[in-house]
Amino acid sequence: MRTYYCGELRKEHIGETVTLYGWVDRRRDHGGVIFVDLRDRTGIVQVVSDPQRTPDSYELANTLRNEYVVEITGRVTQRPEESLNSRIPTGEVEIYADNIKLLNSVRKQLPFQVSTADTDPVREDLRLKYRYLDLRRDHMTHNLQLRHQVVKAMRRYLEDVEGFIEVETPILTRSTPEGARDYLVPSRVNPSEWFALPQSPQLFKQLLMVSGFDRYYQIARCFRDEDLRADRQPEFTQLDMEMSFMSQEEIIELNEKLVCHIFKTVKGIEIQRPFPRLTYAEAMERYGSDKPDTRYGLELVNVSDVVKDCGFKVFREAVINGGIVKILPIPQGNDLISNVRIKPGGDLFKEAADAGAKGLAYIRVRDDGEIDTIGAIKDNLTAEQKQEILRRTGAQPGHLLLFGAGDTATVNKTLDRLRQFVAREFGLIDPEKINLLWVIDFPMFEWNAEEKRLEALHHPFTAPHPHDLSDLKTARAQAYDLVLNGIEVGGGSLRIYQREIQQQVFETIGLSPEDAQNKFGFLLEAFEYGTPPHGGIAYGLDRLVMLLAREESIRDVIAFPKTQQARCLLTDAPSVVDPKQLKELHVASTYKPKL
Ligand code: AMO
Repeated sequence: MRTYYCGELRKEHIGETVTLYGWVDRRRDHGGVIFVDLRDRTGIVQVVSDPQRTPDSYELANTLRNEYVVEITGRVTQRPEESLNSRIPTGEVEIYADNIKLLNSVRKQLPFQVSTADTDPVREDLRLKYRYLDLRRDHMTHNLQLRHQVVKAMRRYLEDVEGFIEVETPILTRSTPEGARDYLVPSRVNPSEWFALPQSPQLFKQLLMVSGFDRYYQIARCFRDEDLRADRQPEFTQLDMEMSFMSQEEIIELNEKLVCHIFKTVKGIEIQRPFPRLTYAEAMERYGSDKPDTRYGLELVNVSDVVKDCGFKVFREAVINGGIVKILPIPQGNDLISNVRIKPGGDLFKEAADAGAKGLAYIRVRDDGEIDTIGAIKDNLTAEQKQEILRRTGAQPGHLLLFGAGDTATVNKTLDRLRQFVAREFGLIDPEKINLLWVIDFPMFEWNAEEKRLEALHHPFTAPHPHDLSDLKTARAQAYDLVLNGIEVGGGSLRIYQREIQQQVFETIGLSPEDAQNKFGFLLEAFEYGTPPHGGIAYGLDRLVMLLAREESIRDVIAFPKTQQARCLLTDAPSVVDPKQLKELHVASTYKPKL
């Protein structure tokens, strides 16, 4: 029987005889003395075997190789002074192996070194193909344990402190309205009909409120067939919550307490409450983004009014056509950014162009206060206009001002990207900072240029602001997002619970009563039977853990993630299936491979 995990052994265990199970992290032979680093999910401990002190285990110890699985019984001993290892928690002790039992060996060459001592980077595709080996490594073991701690803290707080109950909702269901493509599952017993995997438990959790469950939560798997990025997976996990009879303020307060509890329990970090808040309008104006990273400054400055009748056509026309002109002021930008980087072919220009900008105008403030700029600004802005720009941006000698001009969305997108690029590039981000903030007062709708219609920014069950009911098209929503260091970690809203308002929202997004009935009839009907006022939120668990683990990708906090091409390299899914299966499902592929 195991007496301890490897990583648990300390000075106070000296003299005890212990039994450990684990993998051989490394075996070293020091002139006839064998050292085995034994590893399990808690860490590593050094095991010693030599012909004098442990004659019974020596022969076997000699044959051990990396990743063999062993049971070791031995005496915990103080390490000699010269071999103390302060880098590992078990570094003051070692185990004299009285008995080693080989439980299993390794029969193939390892695709990469698993050992914690090996710090060479391993290609991600290899790590994903042999994920079970990758998960043995320190870094991933730590991340998955952290993830477990986060979920545990969530459950403890919500259940024990706030009285939430967890309810599971179906995976085989109807399409849910989160705006991504669905993953579909054909029904064998209902030919030509399909289930959709849930993009979120949204509709079910609202139904649970109708049922009176009052405070629901779930660690819920969600499925979205959308373009993947470092912080997006086709299947991901939400902490999903819904509450009845609570105002937006009360929901936000409860959630702040939850988030504080998680940081305190998992990281020992106290976070100040209340968290700062920005309205959507303010966030867009000052940062060009609805999920601003406020760990650094570089705030944008709107100068549309200053340049609206200036001689420079690009600026003037941007404003005349309903767009804007904004500036990203960069202190010491002159030292850091050469003209080559701002002009076509340069890296900053590329960032701007990728966001849709056609050009990147600039002003440099020289040490003598003179300004140095492109001809169009030099010749076509009056001295007063230039002065006002310098005054408004607080420009000092050394400042570089980058301009965005055009339609509002493109300008914001461009300057947001440049702002993040400059912050990263010049090391302006303090990695110790934890900047949590709420973005509130989102607009209800945004314009979908492709489909030429308004669509719900959050989802069509989000309640409009009570002051804005006279014109729904421009109404603010009672919706809130939680942003952590520039990443949206959660989002939610109060829901509509009155039929008339729901009808108006459907009308505004161009959903006819018949379509609404077809898609959401069951929900609308449920709402007729006594629906409490309710609202909720969902957190992206993977994203939250990624940030807590200081990882760059959510793949590093998911045990078995998919690649950017939405494949599982370990099982090689998705895969073709037996034609017989397709026939049973009444499904035929129309796909024709390109020759
Ligand atoms: P939303 O769509 O904003 O809201 O999702 C909530 C949170 O889930 C995370 N998230 C993702 N994480 C990884 N991969 C993805 N593809 C992905 N998509 C979203 C984000 C996001 O903030 N039903 C509503 C919530 C509600 O209104 O209560 C919803 O799903 O961190």
